[in-house]
Amino acid sequence: MNKESVASLRWLFDVSAEHKIKLVLSIIMSAASALCALAPFYFAYLVLEQLLSPRFDASQVWQWAALALCFMVARYALLFIAIMLSHKSAFAIQYNIRTLALGHMARLPMGFFSQKSSGEIKKILSEDIDRVELFVAHHISDFVTSLITPFAVFIFLLFIDVRMALAALIPIPLAIFSQMSMYKGFEEKSRHYHDALESLNTSITEYVRAMPVIRAFNAGGRPHKLFTASLSHYHHVVVQWTKEAGWPFAAFKTLLDSGLVVLLPLGVYFWSQGTLDIASFTLCILLGVGMMEPLYNLTMFTAYLNQIFEGVNRLQALISRPPLSEPDKSETLSEFGIEFDKVSFRYDDTSRLALDNVSFSLKQGTLNAVVGPSGSGKSTLAMLVARFWDIEQGDILIGGKPITSLSTPYLMENTAYVFQESIILSQTVYDNIAMGSDASEDRVVHAAKAAQAHEFIMALPHGYQTILGEGVFLSGGEKQRLAIARAMLKDAPILILDEATAFADANNQALIQSALSSLIKDKTVIVIAHRLSTIVDADSILVMDKGALVGHGTHEALVQACPVYQSMWQSHQASREWNVSTKEREPADA
Ligand SMILES: Nc1ncnc2c1ncn2[C@@H]1O[C@H](COP(=O)(O)OP(=O)(O)O)[C@@H](O)[C@H]1O
Ligand SMILES: [Mg+2]
Repeated sequence: MNKESVASLRWLFDVSAEHKIKLVLSIIMSAASALCALAPFYFAYLVLEQLLSPRFDASQVWQWAALALCFMVARYALLFIAIMLSHKSAFAIQYNIRTLALGHMARLPMGFFSQKSSGEIKKILSEDIDRVELFVAHHISDFVTSLITPFAVFIFLLFIDVRMALAALIPIPLAIFSQMSMYKGFEEKSRHYHDALESLNTSITEYVRAMPVIRAFNAGGRPHKLFTASLSHYHHVVVQWTKEAGWPFAAFKTLLDSGLVVLLPLGVYFWSQGTLDIASFTLCILLGVGMMEPLYNLTMFTAYLNQIFEGVNRLQALISRPPLSEPDKSETLSEFGIEFDKVSFRYDDTSRLALDNVSFSLKQGTLNAVVGPSGSGKSTLAMLVARFWDIEQGDILIGGKPITSLSTPYLMENTAYVFQESIILSQTVYDNIAMGSDASEDRVVHAAKAAQAHEFIMALPHGYQTILGEGVFLSGGEKQRLAIARAMLKDAPILILDEATAFADANNQALIQSALSSLIKDKTVIVIAHRLSTIVDADSILVMDKGALVGHGTHEALVQACPVYQSMWQSHQASREWNVSTKEREPADA
């Protein structure tokens, strides 16, 4: 066991907190149970000795038989208690770890969740933690038994016959040797295995999610290739590992079972010499042969433990991720203008700057649009206002105060966000709008009406009480209007809309547009837009290109002075003309 594993074990123990005692008791009970299991053998030995002696005493034999029975009962009673205790502490540990992990995740920068795949987080929160539970609940007592039994048997045999006891040990070094060659590079192989498994999991999830696209494009495409590639990689890793481990494993098993090969001839020899009596001989054979079996279990546990430690390491990595720093006491705001001062940001150390030295200032009560090619940093800019990540350089200020001086709850209270992809939860429409607030029904309906969502909601089977996702599905535009209703109800002074109209058809778009205009009064609004027609009237337009802010001003000013905006506007005009000439009767929206 290396240093890392010991640290993992200690961490597990620390997490078990008040349940440590149960765990320790469970271990002691298991050990006691293992010792009780040996007692009947001893009585069998005594009985045999008595039977073979010329002065046979039946009452003595009965006594021993009864005692053997007592120990047997005690063995299982102790085991029962040990397993009860280990189950109790296992569930408690599982509960503690989950609470700890979830509690910590709530304090992580929100960006964490968009960076980590949900498959990865799920694996940690469910599989890794379940494995710990499984081990503590089921395997700890087996583990203790397997550890104690060979030792106890050996010491026992020493008292019976030292020579036979030592002989029973002969296969062990050989077995350990073959065992070691099986575990050579185990950690690395195990890591390979888990990496392969993880990538397989991820690609299966992706494959299923992308099925409509794959089908529509008649398969054979990249997602399919990715899937088969990770499948065959996994297959390769597993087969390779099995091949390498096969021979040493066979040798190990054989050697462990070879006790009889040594003990039988030796025992017969000692007996013929008159230095070993029949009763002792029988006992040595009985115990000596079974003595190695638990060692095999121990190797299985090494594998289990390694898996658990890998899981624990992943858990620890999650839990040791630095949470967002929180001010001791949150500043409060009386004004909600937004200012970026030389802000630079990158997603990870290796990638290029997603925002490069961006400075601007937006007044409260203004509508500000962000435009730019895809990947130019628009969403990043918007997310930084809500402090999804902390920036590496510069300052982001709201009402003149750095956002880091605001507590997360306070910042969240004052910002409403309509995401690029509206997230609808599997609960009622009502709860989807209210989102845990105790808003009155009137206000929820009012928000839905303002978001042009009331009508379609009333057409659902149970109106506002319809549970979404259970046979009731919304269109992209409907989802977006629901998300806008949510933001309306929140009525926060800062509103961020990330391409909120992107998925809408022309009809929905007009509805959303009018919903928005009632939503944005008096607020500081940032709208990320890809249809320029919707934002020509904005108070200011921020033009992004490759992470840099290349223009900031009104439409008129930018058309004059900003080359990037000019070319965007030209292509917009062109597509608009095309649209008008081909679809006369549709409202033109490029
Ligand atoms: N979670 C992320 N992790 C790493 N890179 C990201 C992430 N999100 C966006 N990026 C990168 O940052 C840049 C800006 O992206 P984004 O702000 O989403 O652009 P836009 O919204 O303008 O299309 C792009 O190069 C994109 O690949
Ligand atoms: Mg975007």
